[in-house]
Amino acid sequence: MPYCNAARHQFHYRDEGSGDPVLFVHGFPLNGTMWLEQIERTSPQVRCIAPDLRGFGLSDPSTDRVLTMERHADDLAAIMDVFGVERVDLVGHSMGGYVALAFAERYPERVRSLAMVNSKSTADSEEAKAGRDMTAIKTVIQGRAILAREMANGLLADEASPWQKGRVETMVEETRVETIVAALEGMKQRPDRTAVLESLAVPMVAIVGEEDRLAPVGEAQTMVAAVSDGTTTLIPGAGHMAPIENPDAVAAALAALWSRVESRAG
Ligand code: MLT
Repeated sequence: MPYCNAARHQFHYRDEGSGDPVLFVHGFPLNGTMWLEQIERTSPQVRCIAPDLRGFGLSDPSTDRVLTMERHADDLAAIMDVFGVERVDLVGHSMGGYVALAFAERYPERVRSLAMVNSKSTADSEEAKAGRDMTAIKTVIQGRAILAREMANGLLADEASPWQKGRVETMVEETRVETIVAALEGMKQRPDRTAVLESLAVPMVAIVGEEDRLAPVGEAQTMVAAVSDGTTTLIPGAGHMAPIENPDAVAAALAALWSRVESRAG
């Protein structure tokens, strides 16, 4: 299993394929294996780097009481430094998209393109913040299995298969409880980063599940309206986990984005 030390932390990662480097950033409370379907489909053309964020998956536990989007962004830059990778096509799913925007704000020159998958640029409403506090308390008191069941049933499209639900449920169940609590607080504290998109100078796509209730199409439209070179791709038959629910359509949307980068360069 590959591990690397970066920013004084041990990270687990996948690094497959060769070509232009793509950095896949997973959502909450998931891990880098959420990208397996995309790695299978895209690694024949590009280099896929998919780390487990600090505290998640097989990366070391985190001592941070709050796992901020900025902290994860700095970790990604440090991981890229270890790999000697200067610029990436950045792909973020949901919380990974919040991290991607923090990364684009801090390291704009290191982003070659941006894919926001089932994600948004806006901050939490007061109601959403209160919901996060409740989720943290419930998870500590009742255990993460209930959260895993709720997320698997609540986030995917109605037509999601038992296998797809199981895949999500397992990832959530495998996430450390303290990571869940620290990440909920980190997401709660994240600012609105729509302005980061306004200064984004590279091609961008918002990939949105037709049935995503957490990051619905209106959020994608807000992001795309802010950028100078952006498109929205609707993924049929998908809710909040489009890369798992409809992997072919997501891979096609990513390939289309990367070909826009190539045609700009050429
Ligand atoms: C995710 O999928 O990363 C989270 O559900 C995002 C969020 O809770 O805002």
